[in-house]
Formats: sequence, structure tokens, C-alpha cells
Amino acid sequence: MKFFLDTANIEEIKQAHAWGVIDGVTTNPSLVAKEGGDLVERIYQICQIVEGPVSAETVATDWEGMVREGRLLAQISEHVVVKVPLTVDGIRATRILADDGIDVNVTLCFQAAQALVAAKAGAAYISPFMGRLDDISSDGTRLIEEIVQIYANYPELGTEVLAASIRHPMHVTQTALAGADVCTLPFSTLRKLVNHPLTDSGLKSFLDDWAGVPDPDVAGQVERWLAARSGD
Ligand code: E4P
Repeated sequence: MKFFLDTANIEEIKQAHAWGVIDGVTTNPSLVAKEGGDLVERIYQICQIVEGPVSAETVATDWEGMVREGRLLAQISEHVVVKVPLTVDGIRATRILADDGIDVNVTLCFQAAQALVAAKAGAAYISPFMGRLDDISSDGTRLIEEIVQIYANYPELGTEVLAASIRHPMHVTQTALAGADVCTLPFSTLRKLVNHPLTDSGLKSFLDDWAGVPDPDVAGQVERWLAARSGD
């Protein structure tokens, strides 16, 4: 499963990229507005850091406007994926942009039938929003499972399931179990994937025990052993 980072914050993207586990980035108008500054420069900078798909969202609500914005956004970098909302105009724009050879991420998906239409329109990615469904006591995991199953039934559709609106590590586990192609997560959730109190306490007890041995310098021990061996 691919991990995308769901942020427009350059520092977070640099940090996560340095971990070596990030395959792409998703942004949306709220995330870009939160950071301030110039949209185009920000998307360009993100594309320079992450050599993978970077979703940049249109804000027009009519298909002509989405196509115009999408064609322009796609010229910022070959990594740009144009994000459009799952509306009738968004579906129409998806077909036109896809026919242009531009990858489209259809966003704000809340039911499986919407995902089927987006795939029919040639979307490269569909973004079902897990967290926002869970927020209203609906079942985000079930939605991911349904879309994965539908796309598996019709592999000619070729659209990747990009699980979005991820709020916590269990969402990541659930999307992976459901077989989503991509999970886009905030940096705070990425950090939580790594942390576990038993890992911390286990490491502490290993190091405490090791501190009591006569020579705790592992690298030094290995270097001396290698040097002695090379002289054999
Ligand atoms: C997806 O691409 C969206 O940017 C994002 O996942 C939305 O998440 P939220 O529901 O936490 O705002």
C-alpha cells in the first residue's frame, strides 16, 4: 500500500520524506489556505521534494472552470494530479482531463456508487473520506471495502482507491486490511503509526540491561573483531 501525506506543510513533507516511506502528497483548498502564501509556488516546492503524485485541487464549481484550472495546475509539474470534487461537473471535467492524459483524483466520495461513476469517467484515483463518515456514525471502513470489491470485479476500470480523511492508526490498519491502494494521512497520524508504549518500555529495559556489561560499545567491539580477523 502506498502512503501519501495529507498536508500542504513543507516542513512536514520534508520530515516524512526523510523517513523514506512517503509515495506522494495530497492537498486540498483548506490545507493550502491554512499554510498561506502562494498556491503555485507551494505545489511546485512539494513536487520538488516528493518524486511522486501530488494532488492539487481545483476550486471552480463548473466543469469548464475545473478543466481550465486542471490543465493549468498540471503544467506546474509532471507530478501534479488534478483533484476535482465528485459532482456532475467534476465527473464531466474528469473525463475531459483524463482524455488529455492528465491524472485526476476525484475527491469527496461518500458512497460506492459515486466511486463507480468516477472510475467510468477515467479517474486515476478515487478518494473516499473515512473520517468524515465515521464522524456522522456511518461506516468509513465499509465504504473502502465496497469500493475495493467493486473495482476488483471490474479491473478494466483501472482507478486506484485512495483512502482519505484518515484520523488515527486504526483507520490505516483498516484501509490496509480492506486492500486500498493508497492511504493519505496527516503527519500526526504517520507519527502515531510508529509509536507504541511497549516499544518504548521494551527498548528502555534492553538498554538498561546492556548498560551493565563491561564493554557496552557495540560498534567498537565489531570493529576490533573485524580488524583482528583481517590480520588472520
Ligand atoms: C483528502 O485528500 C483530503 O485532503 C483529506 O483527507 C480530508 O481529511 P479531513 O476529513 O480530515 O479534512
